[in-house]
Order: sequence, then structure tokens, then C-alpha cells
Amino acid sequence: MAQISLFFVSQDGQTEKIARTLSNHLENADQQVRLVDLHQGKISAQDIEAAELVIVLAAIRYGHHLKPADLFLKAHGDILCKKKLALLSVNLTARKLHKRTIEHSIYLQKWVKRHAFSPVLVRAIAGKLDYPSYGWFDRFMIQLIMRITKGPTDPSLTIEFTDWDQVKELAGELVELV
Ligand SMILES: Cc1cc2nc3c(=O)[nH]c(=O)nc-3n(C[C@H](O)[C@H](O)[C@H](O)COP(=O)(O)O)c2cc1C
Repeated sequence: MAQISLFFVSQDGQTEKIARTLSNHLENADQQVRLVDLHQGKISAQDIEAAELVIVLAAIRYGHHLKPADLFLKAHGDILCKKKLALLSVNLTARKLHKRTIEHSIYLQKWVKRHAFSPVLVRAIAGKLDYPSYGWFDRFMIQLIMRITKGPTDPSLTIEFTDWDQVKELAGELVELV
């Protein structure tokens, strides 16, 4: 049984939902998972050092992963570069199948380049679109992004784009890495 540390950061809850689901799949595959919310403050170096695999799962806001993820990767770079590291990005572009891999995702390419790690797995997972919960500015901006990427612009819509089969398959891939 391997120790896997899964660090996640979520703003509106979808990334947390994905983190919990992924964690359950990993546990069902007999892995020992330490789930850590990066918004909850202090991270112990032990959580990283004890792990055979470190997963960082972060949501995107306006082209950037939420700050606690980057702060975490920067602060613990020395240990992380010696670990097996998986980077998972949650965003709306990943609702399109081909945008889930680094070859076709600018977000993933930039993320990896920014931290100069050599992750063993990098993937994007589709998040949730929830127009009614957004303020006018965010709604306007997301509609703009959706118009450009040929997505839904109806402001009454809430759509969970997360592909739960992909999350389950990812868990399988991650288990293969430990
Ligand atoms: C203000 C705002 C900005 C966003 N910016 C982007 C973006 O630049 N690219 C993208 O693909 N998705 C973007 N999204 C979509 C989020 O990544 C998606 O809704 C995700 O599910 C959010 O995760 P969370 O619920 O864990 O915060 C944005 C969402 C919001 C509300």
C-alpha cells in the first residue's frame, strides 16, 4: 500500500468534489491517501516526504491556477523535484476531450514550464459552469470565453462538465505509478 498525498485547491467547490472522488477511487484501489486542502493553511513537509506520489489538483481562474497551488509548488520545490509528481488542472476548456493533455493545453504547458518539474503525469479535468452563481463581471467574462471557444452562453445555465469516467480512469493510471 503506497502513501499518496493529494493536495487540492478549489474556489467554488468543483475541484474539491473531484479531489474527494479521486481520493475515494484511490482508496478503493488499496492506496493510503492523505487529502490536503491548500486553502487550509500550513502544510507539513512530512505530508510530502512520506508520500510515494504527490498529486496537485488545482482550479483555473482567468488563465491561472489558484494561487495556493503555485505557492505550494514554489515553497516545496526542493522536495517535490525528487518525488513522483502528478499535476491535475480543473478548467472549462477541458470539456473538450483533446484539451485534456499537455500537447493541446496551453494551461498545462505553461504550468509545467513555470515550475520546471518533470511530472510523471499531467492532465486537465473539466470543471463546472455555473452562470447563476457568478457576479455580472465574471458572468460576462465567462460568456466571452465561451463565445470564443464555442461553448454555452445562456446565463441561466449550470452544467457540470466533469467527466467522472475520466476521474476513475485517472485513478487507475495514478495507481500504476506507485
Ligand atoms: C471567475 C472565473 C474565471 C474562470 N477562468 C477560467 C479560464 O480562464 N479558463 C477555463 O478554462 N476555465 C475558467 N473558469 C472555469 C473554472 O476553472 C471552473 O468553473 C472550475 O470548475 C472551478 O473550480 P472550483 O469550483 O473548484 O473553483 C473560470 C471560472 C470562474 C468562476
